[in-house]
Amino acid sequence: MQDRKVVIEELKSQIDKDKLPSHVAIIMDGNGRWAQKKHLPRTAGHKEGMERVKEIVEVASNLGIKYLSLYAFSTENWKRPEEEVNGLMKLLVQYLRMELNNLNKNNVKIKTLGNIDGLPKLPREEVIRAVELTKNNNKMVLNIALNYGGRNEIVTGVKNILKDVKMGKMEIEDLTEENFQEYLYTISQPDPDLLIRPSGELRISNFMLYQIAYTEFWFSNIYWPDFREENFYQAIIDYQKRDRRYGGI
Ligand code: IPE
Ligand code: IPE
Ligand code: MG
Repeated sequence: MQDRKVVIEELKSQIDKDKLPSHVAIIMDGNGRWAQKKHLPRTAGHKEGMERVKEIVEVASNLGIKYLSLYAFSTENWKRPEEEVNGLMKLLVQYLRMELNNLNKNNVKIKTLGNIDGLPKLPREEVIRAVELTKNNNKMVLNIALNYGGRNEIVTGVKNILKDVKMGKMEIEDLTEENFQEYLYTISQPDPDLLIRPSGELRISNFMLYQIAYTEFWFSNIYWPDFREENFYQAIIDYQKRDRRYGGI
């Protein structure tokens, strides 16, 4: 235990506070395999994954990260057995009920990415309550991606643009890469600087397709329930060594 504390402090000291990524996105993956490895039901993995959400939200906020986006449930995750989907929705409600006051006290603003109308009533209501309660907070924005799909986000945005054009609120010629972003769930937020995907999969799985054009990727074999404070710091340290050229030299 003492050793772990030493490791954490050592890693933390390597982080350049002036070069923090302002937006970190995480694809929280590997809960099922973590549970399987331990001969536990998949839901046990999701439950332990929720502990990591609590930990990493606190760590990111204390470090000074301004935007943290967590991929919690994709538009494709509905394909899973009903029991697992219900378990995930239950955990979401549990997380919000347990953590909302704490998040609010810590000045965290909760936002959602995704089509919230498509969620079952209870989680939908809890999420709306959380967004409403924390809307004036300004230490860190916590984006929770729920019923989120990157393609769905883009198509929804295009539909809204077409509506605005039809109603005369926008001219086709005025559409730019910049104002297109106002039609995305991440409206008025910077693009992720760093995207973390644990669990060993080397793919994006439909996350923030428009926003990750110049995001730095950090992959790891660690399953999400094993992803701790020290792993988060390591990702930041590695990110700070990258040379972001944006097509320049
Ligand atoms: C991530 O873990 C949680 C969600 C997608 C909701 P998984 O449940 O995908 O875990 P693996 O990938 O099967 O191990
Ligand atoms: C991505 O994980 C979605 C979330 C973490 C919420 P998946 O487990 O659904 O992704 P695939 O199926 O491995 O691509
Ligand atoms: Mg997975």
